[in-house]
Amino acid sequence: MAGDTADRPKPRLIVDCDPGQDDAVAIVVAAAYGELLGITTVGGNAPLADVTRNALLTCQLFGLDVPVYAGEATPLKAEPLHAPEIHGTSGFAGPSLPELDREPEHPHAVEYLIERVRADEGLWLVQIGPATNVATAFAKAPDLPGRLAGVSFMGGSASGGNRTAAAEFNALADPEALDVVLGSDTEIRMCGLDLTMQLTVDDQLVSDIRDVAAPDGGALGNPGAKVIADLFGHYLERIEALAGHRVGGLHDPCAVLAVTHPELFEMVKRPTGVELRGSLTRGMTVVDRRSRVSEGDTGIPWTDAGQFHPVWHCVSLDVVAARSLVVDALNQVGTKSDR
Ligand code: RIB
Ligand code: CA
Repeated sequence: MAGDTADRPKPRLIVDCDPGQDDAVAIVVAAAYGELLGITTVGGNAPLADVTRNALLTCQLFGLDVPVYAGEATPLKAEPLHAPEIHGTSGFAGPSLPELDREPEHPHAVEYLIERVRADEGLWLVQIGPATNVATAFAKAPDLPGRLAGVSFMGGSASGGNRTAAAEFNALADPEALDVVLGSDTEIRMCGLDLTMQLTVDDQLVSDIRDVAAPDGGALGNPGAKVIADLFGHYLERIEALAGHRVGGLHDPCAVLAVTHPELFEMVKRPTGVELRGSLTRGMTVVDRRSRVSEGDTGIPWTDAGQFHPVWHCVSLDVVAARSLVVDALNQVGTKSDR
């Protein structure tokens, strides 16, 4: 069956995130199908203290013994950008949440990234918030990209934005940081909006997750799934209020699946850059899809060399398999018998 990874080693992952409901699901998917070594948080959907609390709550609700490290609160140059209109001021609007029973670890997330990547070659960084932590780590430790298997990130798009007409939220929140990551000497996989809007949150998915939380409406057996269903319920209410419909992108888990299940994706290497100066287009990612761009690592006529970088652009995915993997992960991780 598509998505069956039983016969291969789990990729070793560090997730850099700004929970956010889709970040929370991405954490669970990473724990289900990868070896989730650590979680780092960055100011984004909500301020750093809130997204750090939300990452800790996700681990608590799903019984994950994964260290969480708080990182950068503000972008490299931009003013802090949050998304209360979608995620609420706390970043986790919707569910009632338990008291937190854990704390973030020391050191700072950037120091953790540097230490952990230097200690262990071949890790994947899954970046699903603004790129500030990863860019700061790369700037402080230029040897890091060469030690990684790659960076898989949710951000940008080849076809318009969500926070502005041109720019996707993560890219707009810290375009200078994203430019550093795109230009780094490691494999970059990009899950932009044109990809992530193929994997959607709708009322049927919320119903399926509620069924995971309490099968046949019976006793609650998976409190984490209940929280995710309530987070998604709020997400759909906000989308309906803002856009008049009830379908949203399930963005961040795509960047995890692009590492754990690459066979579900069509990926094409394309010259990709991020606009830093445009008054209308700052934070816009520009993906050069012109057919004249040749394939392979050499001979690609990069446009404006230095501003465009070779990036594996995730074009499409097996949505049915991906959706099933997400629901299975919430079920598998959230209802472990030993909890
Ligand atoms: O534009 C979608 C991205 O912005 C996702 O990572 C979501 O969590 C928000 O951070
Ligand atoms: Ca995110």
